[in-house]
Amino acid sequence: MEATNPAGLFSAVKTNPDPHLLKHLVNHPMKIGFDCASHSEVAEILSLSVPPEDIIYANPCKAPSHICYAAAKNVRKMTFDNVAELYKIKAHFPEAECILRFKVSEQTPDDEGSSEGAMYELSKKYGVTIDYSREILLKAKELGLNVIGLAFHVGSGQWNVNAYRDYIKEARRIWEIASEVGYTFTMLDIGGGFMYRNFEKAAGVVNTTLDNEFGDLIERGEVEVVAEPGRYVSAPAFTLLTSVIAVREGKEQANENRMLYLADGMYSNISATLWPGELTFPTVLKGKRVYDQKPTLPKSSASSDSGIEMDEADEADNVNVYQETSGAATLLGGELQEYSVWGPTCDCLDVVIKSALLPKGIELGDWFVFKDLGAYSTTLRTSFNGFRMNHKVYYLNETMNTGLT
Ligand SMILES: Cc1ncc(COP(=O)(O)O)c(C=O)c1O
Repeated sequence: MEATNPAGLFSAVKTNPDPHLLKHLVNHPMKIGFDCASHSEVAEILSLSVPPEDIIYANPCKAPSHICYAAAKNVRKMTFDNVAELYKIKAHFPEAECILRFKVSEQTPDDEGSSEGAMYELSKKYGVTIDYSREILLKAKELGLNVIGLAFHVGSGQWNVNAYRDYIKEARRIWEIASEVGYTFTMLDIGGGFMYRNFEKAAGVVNTTLDNEFGDLIERGEVEVVAEPGRYVSAPAFTLLTSVIAVREGKEQANENRMLYLADGMYSNISATLWPGELTFPTVLKGKRVYDQKPTLPKSSASSDSGIEMDEADEADNVNVYQETSGAATLLGGELQEYSVWGPTCDCLDVVIKSALLPKGIELGDWFVFKDLGAYSTTLRTSFNGFRMNHKVYYLNETMNTGLT
């Protein structure tokens, strides 16, 4: 059966498997496929009636039982980057359509000469270099496996768009090696790493380099170029609202800044703080939580986004009420003051913002709004320090504001 995803876009499930987001993507007019990295992600996507052809099992190191599951469900496309994986595939799913994951050994700096690269350097964990590609492809040939193409990932949250050029150029060289080994490749998977903040730039580099390196094959219809964007798709779909649960100031300060503590932090939905460039600068809403009252839902929101997440408020009081002080939430603005902003756990690493100028006068019960926090947020949270992992999610529209809309 032919795959039904003409966009060549396999959305990475791991960034946010929110059921409404997945449903939205499954029904998206672009006809999207999915990048799954585990048995349960595959099962989740198949349960939404996505045909197995529209899934890439994009994890080069899979448990044997997960390969058996893929075989049982006929999810054929899967990546590999080591000989042990080839033996597992041979044993459990010899009909698989294997895709070789590679990496480049050296990366060109960006146009400004900065060596800043990806927030998550996935090549530290996966991918063969070109030097080893012939040997591993010969092994695949010897085992009689069907290798259909190449995959790479430039690193998640990639600031240096030249990385796409490096990888696509290397792909063409490995493509030729594959042909010498006796494989006729048909798929080039350019992975993820895209951020909406530099998407246009990255897309420009991808298109130009594809034209230069693969133009002949593309023209003859001999290569299907696909991508696996993750954060680009899901980040804009959700906004996080979290409240100030504690304030230390004046003589109580442990550093020179006024200290605020939020109900959410790096062990819950804001693990993005590990990579400061990823967290959008917050806006602050004036709002008093009313204690000792029956919880009610918020009446208004600060965001016109399609999705909105709210933290489980200070659980000690078992209150998660947000009541506006005067009908509508007011945005704090005007004079600024230096703050440090912390998460709720007792770990000193749980810092959301080390130092920033924020509106003067933020107090207990006010709200921080972090836009575009839909990627790697809910999926990475933990129950560390006994903080419960539940939070409320409000869907504001039928459609979701993803990077694809
Ligand atoms: C194989 C693979 N594809 C796609 C993605 C999504 O990456 P991103 O969110 O940077 O677009 C990841 C992220 O880890 C990945 O490992």
